[in-house]
Amino acid sequence: VIAALQPKVLKNRRILITAGPTFEPIDPVRGITNRSSGKMGYAIARAAREAGASVTLISGPTALDTPYHVNRVDVMTAIEMRDAVMSHISHQDIFISVAAVADWRVANASDQKIKKNKNGDTPTLEFTENPDILASIAALPDPPYCVGFAAESEKLRQHAEEKRRKKGIPLLVGNIGHETFGKDDNTLILFDDTGTLELPHGSKQLLARQLIEQIAKRL
Ligand code: CTP
Ligand code: CA
Repeated sequence: VIAALQPKVLKNRRILITAGPTFEPIDPVRGITNRSSGKMGYAIARAAREAGASVTLISGPTALDTPYHVNRVDVMTAIEMRDAVMSHISHQDIFISVAAVADWRVANASDQKIKKNKNGDTPTLEFTENPDILASIAALPDPPYCVGFAAESEKLRQHAEEKRRKKGIPLLVGNIGHETFGKDDNTLILFDDTGTLELPHGSKQLLARQLIEQIAKRL
């Protein structure tokens, strides 16, 4: 009811959001993933839709329902997520990279299920780095307004500001990894070239609405 009374700050805007973890196979039945639940990205997709935007959500594997009137595209791996983002990026006004994209994939993934060895030998995994989706979108000739997320375990302010500069994005949202993964609430710190703004502890849905307002102001 309250949301319906708010001005639609993203009316006629197109927004692309990634959310959730990625899953990198080891073999057909096993893989490597992380503790992202997708809750923050889905909350932002919902808030953006409430704010009048046309929303596409590229999602890694999550247990969440698709937000009302959001166009959801499911992917598993970082490479699939990169391809889905690339194929949806044209004509977007805003890109929010909330997904916890796996930094590495298994280079020697097996086509068949790896069997236990009789002598107790264990398999050795080799890794290769995944493409940085956000950095590649930010480097496009005419990029949408790009927003990144950073979950850190220490030195949040330092790491977040460094990350924002390195990726060449106008806005980065920082949070503490163990305080967000799987939780329904969080605290966010926004970093842009004017400094920082803390969005105090609250539900992810409330924080998502506040973040959308902050993004709309900066467009
Ligand atoms: N990201 C991405 N593609 C990747 C890795 C990260 O698009 N392959 C995006 C995330 O969605 C997030 C931002 O980059 O918006 C920061 O992710 P993060 O994991 O905090 O940073 P990294 O650059 O991967 O550095 P590190 O994990 O070493 O801290
Ligand atoms: Ca990373």
